[in-house]
Amino acid sequence: MTEQRRPLTSLPADELTAFTADLKGAHDALVAAGLSLDLTRGKPSSEQLDLSDGLLALPTSAYAPDGSDTRNYGNLLGLTELRAMFAELLRLDLPQVSAQGTSSLTLMKDVLTYLWLHGGVDSPKPWGKEEKVKFVCPVPGYDRHFVLLEWFGIEAVTVPMTDVGPDVEAVAALVKDDPTIKGMWLVPTYANPTGQVTSQEVAERLASMPTAAPDFKIFWDNAYALHHLTAAETKSADIVSLAAVAGNPHRPVLFASTSKITYAGAGVAFVGGSVETVAWFTQQLGHGSIGPDKVNQLRHLEFFKSAQGVRDHMDKHRELLAPKFAEVDRILTERLEGYGVAQWTRPRGGYFVSLDVLPGTAARVIELAGQAGVALTPAGSAFPGRYDPQDTNIRLAPSFPPLADVTGAMEAVAVCVLLAAAEKLSA
Ligand SMILES: Cc1ncc(COP(=O)(O)O)c(C=O)c1O
Repeated sequence: MTEQRRPLTSLPADELTAFTADLKGAHDALVAAGLSLDLTRGKPSSEQLDLSDGLLALPTSAYAPDGSDTRNYGNLLGLTELRAMFAELLRLDLPQVSAQGTSSLTLMKDVLTYLWLHGGVDSPKPWGKEEKVKFVCPVPGYDRHFVLLEWFGIEAVTVPMTDVGPDVEAVAALVKDDPTIKGMWLVPTYANPTGQVTSQEVAERLASMPTAAPDFKIFWDNAYALHHLTAAETKSADIVSLAAVAGNPHRPVLFASTSKITYAGAGVAFVGGSVETVAWFTQQLGHGSIGPDKVNQLRHLEFFKSAQGVRDHMDKHRELLAPKFAEVDRILTERLEGYGVAQWTRPRGGYFVSLDVLPGTAARVIELAGQAGVALTPAGSAFPGRYDPQDTNIRLAPSFPPLADVTGAMEAVAVCVLLAAAEKLSA
């Protein structure tokens, strides 16, 4: 069917007018249908959460395997056995990881706060005492990373994502001579929203590149480290070892959590890095905590039993998620291929599909979808300041709605993408 299609840009005016009218009719029909669908929420579905309901009956004991009483104060680093389990999964050694509360985003905020107030293990002074602080931000990226920077008054400097991670030459060129660039964000595995995996080679360059700031940090947010959508379970680069070998051992700070493994609101989050970084983190944390929720950590330990238990559990998530991602791709391919007005990612893991529509039409697509009762993430969300200079990117999140809703929403999105493109080209 798609062979007969021609790029919309090549259509003569009369054909484009007829095409636009057809799509306007299709859109009117969608509006009349009164849909109420939502593709904005990158969160697990109820069925995914059900997979972990075994947690609700755990732990069966108050005592950790080492005999410590999890109900009491203490152990700021978190439960040793759970740390060991996730150290294996995150390619760290035990002393390089700490298990904390439910949210890795909170840990990112905490680490940034500590750096701001006191500086890191290798900082000449607190970041907050610098005249200016900038961060490299691969785009499109995770909106909450950018919001956090804004909150601190940190300037975002964008670099593009490539198929193997951030444009590492662009990053290296920026950080080489500018001491105000103190760090960068990176979602190394199945990036939000583009799905790329940072290759071992790119990670090696990031770990070893010269930086003008002596305390440059890579916020290595491995939120989707284990969240494979195919049987090819891509491994994350082992950034902490790479940085140590390169002589920059304190450069990476690693984050992860079980938010999308067990419960998004009651999981366990992890922070990792060099032994000194973890000790520094714990020392800073100690000013406001006498220990994390170790009962929840023990619950997770009993539930998974081993690192392999976590991997097996992720297979069940994959069975629920993969059909939704396949459906997004099927509809986009069937409806849009050949018109030359959209490109999208086919992620092998993670929670998002990144859709690039005809430049200058993303906001209009989202508006048209809203009129048709389909909520999409606001235009520009994946860029600092919510400003997508090309007005082209739309983040699709198919995990939460049931499959039938994904189908309905994507059929509507396809109509809106074509209508917005046709309108723009007609104008
Ligand atoms: C890249 C990324 N990091 C962090 C988070 C939030 O993690 P947590 O639930 O551990 O705070 C998300 C959630 O969508 C995410 O996409």
